[in-house]
Amino acid sequence: MKLCIIGTGHVGLVTGACFAEIGNQVICVDNDEEKIKMIKRGRMPIYEPELEELVKRNAGEGRLFFSTSIAEGTRKSRVIFIAVGTPPKENGEADLSSVEKVCREIVRNMKDYRLIVEKSTVPVQTGQWIKHIFRLSNNHVDFDIASNPEFLREGSAVRDFLNPDRIVIGVERERAAEILRQLYQPIINREFNSDLRIPASSSDPVPLLVTDIQSSEIIKHASNSFLATKISFINAVADLCERTGADVEKVAEGMGHDPRIGSSFLKAGVGFGGFCFPKDLQAFIRIAEKLNYDFTLLKEAQRINKERPRQLVRKLEEALWILKDKTIGVLGLSFKPYTDDMRFAPSIEVIKLLQKEGAKVIKAYDPVATPNAKLFLNNIEYVSSPYEAASGSDALVIITEWEEFRNLDLEKIKGLLETPVIVDGRNIYDPREMQKLGFIYKSIGRGSS
Ligand code: UGA
Repeated sequence: MKLCIIGTGHVGLVTGACFAEIGNQVICVDNDEEKIKMIKRGRMPIYEPELEELVKRNAGEGRLFFSTSIAEGTRKSRVIFIAVGTPPKENGEADLSSVEKVCREIVRNMKDYRLIVEKSTVPVQTGQWIKHIFRLSNNHVDFDIASNPEFLREGSAVRDFLNPDRIVIGVERERAAEILRQLYQPIINREFNSDLRIPASSSDPVPLLVTDIQSSEIIKHASNSFLATKISFINAVADLCERTGADVEKVAEGMGHDPRIGSSFLKAGVGFGGFCFPKDLQAFIRIAEKLNYDFTLLKEAQRINKERPRQLVRKLEEALWILKDKTIGVLGLSFKPYTDDMRFAPSIEVIKLLQKEGAKVIKAYDPVATPNAKLFLNNIEYVSSPYEAASGSDALVIITEWEEFRNLDLEKIKGLLETPVIVDGRNIYDPREMQKLGFIYKSIGRGSS
């Protein structure tokens, strides 16, 4: 099938590369000329495992093209995916101005039938607005609108695309559903050739849910909001555990065995970040408000999350008393492991609070996020290993659970620290072991530490 993907951010580029991988002809369009040049040279604008390989191979084999022209993409493709950014406005609402501009440009260049698919995360009723824009134009060419939300996690986006838990499409007409069904058929039936050899999570076909457009739009916001609420719930339970001597890791395990609850997204810690959960939660709250529903449940999930970095700093104060003029080593800056994404990362808030309390030096280490961190943080001494971060520091704070932090030589770390204090925002060590090693070790929701 001939496809155009507008927007080469995380979602657009992964979507384009994966659709090409399963045999489609794909044009990826972006108005950022530099970015398009960079991708054409084989350099990826984001860190995402397997993406570079996929882009290079499919471009080399003539299935994946890049352009800065929406007109070209519209002319050459029957199905057009909109994957441009929908960043938060000051008031938390999603800014849909890029979506609107792109739609105007598409409709101006349409000569015959096109299926327009919302891939960006958008508030409910955006599909209706897109239809309105198309109808407003003087171009009366036939079209369909569909919603097809993405459920890609950063760090495993390619795998999530090719081996999804479900595919959701929201349509008004069967014709649109049929085109998308055909497009996704190889993924649904797990029948495509890929050098990536991604293991299928099941031998059953991938569930395909066809709904109306509004339901599909809500599925995306509700899914992210639900997961964010699950994290805030376990973080609230963690606070209770700390007050009672219980262990949140055990509590989460005990809850997670119930299949109705499930064990994932029950990791207590310094809270959720990234460009999806905080933004989508806020946008869902705002759209509910506009529809005269006060979503207090989500507001509370948001409040609990905002409090997490301050709580981590409080733990450091419990160990060190005064933070003024202290040197603090920080391990992990990205909002989660296996990504260099710093957007809404809890590390930003934690470090700003430490600086506000007068910490003299922040020595930070992250395996991949340092270049991006420089855009978000000032007055940081970036170091090139966890041991350097510990060296001469009054304490070590763990914010992102990169695998390499689990395997550190802790005796060596203790010897390097000025005082043996570790505050662990991701519960990666065993409190009893840490005590045995002679650390003052504080973690999340584990009463004994
Ligand atoms: C999330 C969703 O998981 C995807 O399904 C969705 O498609 C994507 O947003 C999106 O809307 O584009 P992502 O933001 O990549 O994906 O990250 P997650 O792996 O979901 O983690 C989000 C945050 O929650 C991270 O800061 C992580 O550290 C935190 N988290 C996650 C916890 O604190 N505890 C947990 O148990 C799980």
